[in-house]
Amino acid sequence: MQSTGRGNFGSKLGVILASAGSAVGLGNIWRFPTEVGRNGGAAFILVYLCCVFFLAMPVMVSEFVIGRHSKANTVGAYRALAPGKPWIVAGFMGVLGGILVLSFYSVVAGWTLHYTLQSLGLRLMGHQDFGEVFNQFVSNPWKPLVYQYVFLLLTHFVVARGVESGIERFSKVMMPMLLVIIVLLSCFSLTMPGAYDGLNFLLKPDFSKVTTRVVLSAMGQAFFSLSVGIGCLATYASYFKKDTNLVKSAVGVCAIDSMVAIMSGFIIFPAAFSVAGVQVDSGPGLVYITLPHVFNMAFENIPFIGYLFSALFYVLLLLAALTSTISMHEIATAFIRENYKCSRQKSAVIVTLICIVLGTACSLSFGPWADIKIWGMGFFDLFDFLTAKFIMPLGGILITMFVEWYLDRKLVVDELTNGGTVRVRGLRFLLFLIRWVAPIGVGIVFLNELAG
Ligand code: ALA
Repeated sequence: MQSTGRGNFGSKLGVILASAGSAVGLGNIWRFPTEVGRNGGAAFILVYLCCVFFLAMPVMVSEFVIGRHSKANTVGAYRALAPGKPWIVAGFMGVLGGILVLSFYSVVAGWTLHYTLQSLGLRLMGHQDFGEVFNQFVSNPWKPLVYQYVFLLLTHFVVARGVESGIERFSKVMMPMLLVIIVLLSCFSLTMPGAYDGLNFLLKPDFSKVTTRVVLSAMGQAFFSLSVGIGCLATYASYFKKDTNLVKSAVGVCAIDSMVAIMSGFIIFPAAFSVAGVQVDSGPGLVYITLPHVFNMAFENIPFIGYLFSALFYVLLLLAALTSTISMHEIATAFIRENYKCSRQKSAVIVTLICIVLGTACSLSFGPWADIKIWGMGFFDLFDFLTAKFIMPLGGILITMFVEWYLDRKLVVDELTNGGTVRVRGLRFLLFLIRWVAPIGVGIVFLNELAG
């Protein structure tokens, strides 16, 4: 097992904030409201919370056990814990998954960087048709690429600096900032005229809307949002110290992630409902087409508020995206570094270059390469499909099965209780979730997604 010279998170707060940073991202602020809008509001949120705590959290705890016990990258972990066994496939799937997610995620992150600069420079205001503005930008052959590359380089520099002085230090500054911005924005949004309808949509569940499709969407969203199933959190856990309380940390990360997702709803829906004619179920365009329209209306009424609202919102989205891309990058960087005995800097350069190449294909699939299809999908949709619908759920099933069915029960309990020094309430129930509920529940999503 490799344990020397790898770096560690220096503090318990660093552990929680870095892991929460990995989880909180575009998935919470961009994808979650989109799913809530499409799936009928409050009832979806309740189903989502059940999925977070009963399905995704057990996978997260399992990743923490694997990572901290092995003190290795996600491939090295299976090599150390199950030498010569096929479980290592789960590790390679994780490295591939991280690279694929980073490649398509950085496209949207690049758009966010563009919208941030536009809103800071007041250039987002005064348009008539924000759909047209958005489509022209994303289909441009080179502009989105420039923003995407800049974003990938930002990610690269944080990862190249290392665990404690890069990832941990960055997360400790960014996460509190992000939480403050979220609270500020929801206060703004809740004071907009008509905000009450948005609150109603978010808080009054209509259980007649809960269909199988809603349950499946909620499970998929929980997985994506918590970054579980690709060894991302196992990699971070390999930098945890011996006294880190794994269960408490997992519960803390799930709580922060869910809170940010729900608060994003409090920002977006009251604002969207306050503008007549704005569609709350307009899908992924909600953040880049619907919201600029809302900001514009606010700007026309009270310019300062409109400006502040839009600038803070896109800065928030950008920071959240960055803390997540750092963790995706780290999966492959740690693997290359430890497997091929390269320096951290060189490993990070290799990962960034691979993501630039693959990410370029994803970005161009909105413009000049729109006609190139594999299995009927452009590169962006293909990478999204391969990760969110294939690698992540399959990884989740393998990870929980590995921990509960392959690893020695004593080893698992020792990790969860730090060698018997901490008392974990509900430990039996947690082990039951890991052994049965998570693999079976996720297996159902997986098969259903594949069939769909
Ligand atoms: N977990 C990351 C997000 O929610 C990928 O954006």
